[in-house]
Amino acid sequence: MKVKVSRKAHFNAAHRLYRKDWDDAKNNLVFGKCNNPNYHGHNYELVVSVTGEIDPETGFVIDMKILKDLIKSEIEDALDHKNLNVEVPEFKTLNPTAENIVIVIYNKLLPHIDSNKELEVVLYETPRNFVTYNG
Ligand code: NI
Repeated sequence: MKVKVSRKAHFNAAHRLYRKDWDDAKNNLVFGKCNNPNYHGHNYELVVSVTGEIDPETGFVIDMKILKDLIKSEIEDALDHKNLNVEVPEFKTLNPTAENIVIVIYNKLLPHIDSNKELEVVLYETPRNFVTYNG
């Protein structure tokens, strides 16, 4: 029997969506307000889920404390209160869209999850806009 275990987390971060190889008109057309040259912030909400068999000894799929600490060390410490474009190496050359951020988060967490378990990350950029990645 497989069970999906989920933990919510959150971080605040600033970003700007644009392409250097496009002029201002095209960047504004495609990225709108998210192309503000002075950056802008989002309150990102995160749901990290791990699916797997229940360990018969502990009754856990994954210890929630371990998952909590993992999200703190790998995601919150790396992204919270950061300017994603300027301060986070993964976005030096990658547009920090919700789609790209969720993949970066997934890739940071995956090496720490047992290979017999499945990882899924849901990232809310606003309460109404969210993206999902599970590899
Ligand atoms: Ni934005």
